[in-house]
Amino acid sequence: MLTKTMEKALNDQVNFEIYSSYLYMAMTSALEAMNFKGAAHWMRIQTLEELFHANKFFNYIIDRGGRAVLQEIKKPKTDWKSFLEVFDDAHKHEIIVTSRICNLVDLALMEKDHVTNSTLQWFVTEQIEEESNGKTIIEKIKKTKNSSDGLMMIDTELGARVLSPMANITAAVSAPL
Ligand code: FEO
Repeated sequence: MLTKTMEKALNDQVNFEIYSSYLYMAMTSALEAMNFKGAAHWMRIQTLEELFHANKFFNYIIDRGGRAVLQEIKKPKTDWKSFLEVFDDAHKHEIIVTSRICNLVDLALMEKDHVTNSTLQWFVTEQIEEESNGKTIIEKIKKTKNSSDGLMMIDTELGARVLSPMANITAAVSAPL
């Protein structure tokens, strides 16, 4: 059973994960407008991964006998000046996500809710990859020194991304048993 405080914090995280998806959708649109098709494809996958995260929290609340309550989604930023600026913002956003997940762990430990803490550890590990992906892409973009050939090469590379946790996504969108 979740405490009311934990339930509220987890519901806020459902909202934030959906907002993350919404933000990455806005970034997809900006990258399409800049004609970076591969990067837009990469960001579309990021959008889906965030919905997977939201569903994982959503289902967890229900599994523990809580009430998943959906909230208004904040309007995301819609304009970016460059390829680099998009990924820089995406990386900064992931750092915020990490800090939010860590705050949830702090709360779970404070409430002696070891079940929630155990579930949150999946997200803690996920954030290693989420932050490192953004950092790697930013470094690659910076190395091109804005050469269009270099940027096109990165764009092609990003276009090869595949949605990896398909089984997890199917599980996450299924109703809890
Ligand atoms: Fe849901 Fe990208 O963290």
